[in-house]
Amino acid sequence: MFVKRDDLNGLGGGGNKLRKLEFLVGEALARGADTIITVGARQSNHARLTAAAAARAGLQCELVLTRLVPRHDADYLENGNILLDSLFGAHVHDLPGSANALAFAEARAAELRAQGRNVYVCPLGGSSPVGCLGYANCAAEIVAQADALNVSFDAIVGPNGSGGMHAGLVAGMAALGRATPPIVGYGVYGEAGAARAATLDKANQTVRLIDPALSIASEAVVVDGGHLGEGYGIPTDGMLHAVRLLASTEGLLLDPVYGGKAFAGLLHALETGVYRAGQRVLFVMTGGLPGLYAYRSAF
Ligand SMILES: Cc1ncc(COP(=O)(O)O)c(C=O)c1O
Repeated sequence: MFVKRDDLNGLGGGGNKLRKLEFLVGEALARGADTIITVGARQSNHARLTAAAAARAGLQCELVLTRLVPRHDADYLENGNILLDSLFGAHVHDLPGSANALAFAEARAAELRAQGRNVYVCPLGGSSPVGCLGYANCAAEIVAQADALNVSFDAIVGPNGSGGMHAGLVAGMAALGRATPPIVGYGVYGEAGAARAATLDKANQTVRLIDPALSIASEAVVVDGGHLGEGYGIPTDGMLHAVRLLASTEGLLLDPVYGGKAFAGLLHALETGVYRAGQRVLFVMTGGLPGLYAYRSAF
């Protein structure tokens, strides 16, 4: 097993969203923005890293965060990512779980524009086609690293939340025109069929930014929804086991919302013989360490 250490991407505590933010903040700056607004759940890693990237780029940042996840303890509400959001200087809007965060963000953007500000609104998870280009780049990086190591992977696996990482990897591999191993996303957000369709759509939009003549075959996107449990951000026994196992045997820290559930899925695949001895699997480790502090009570 190989691990792609995207948890070590080096800003604001690290994580997969930085690859998207490289392109999203680039787009914001190219449009002359002075403010960036994004949306997410209260413990959103994407929101935290948007705040960090905005601080670095000299942009104001507003985060529209909903209480989507049914956790109400002090660690969930005030520690982890939300603590870091305030250190990065972001202004947080605290909304109930039922709120339409994107509509709120658009209304807030309109309000700020009326005051003369130039606002860039970043979608959930940073998963616009431009954001997904960050993971198309990652696909090229994976291929170059595999070539340098003289290995080929039989599968690439990781979490699928808003689907942008998965879509970008699929698009990047398609644009490289190389034989691609199955890219399996473990769904951690919603129903697997909807996640697959949304990911396929994003992959097509992304690959067309690279080459308008390209398209993605439907079977190129595989989403396994079997390890979501009761819902987004709700702990499962498999996640708790996966986090403890990787920490206690490798010193590697998975997060409780994304990587923990994806790795639980990978362990299940290993236990049920999906992969044969000698096959090589690349696990994309996406970060989210602050989430462990927010989920202290689950451990
Ligand atoms: C730590 C972590 N891993 C994985 C993901 C999922 O990435 P995507 O939203 O691109 O599917 C996220 C997204 O929020 C994340 O924060």
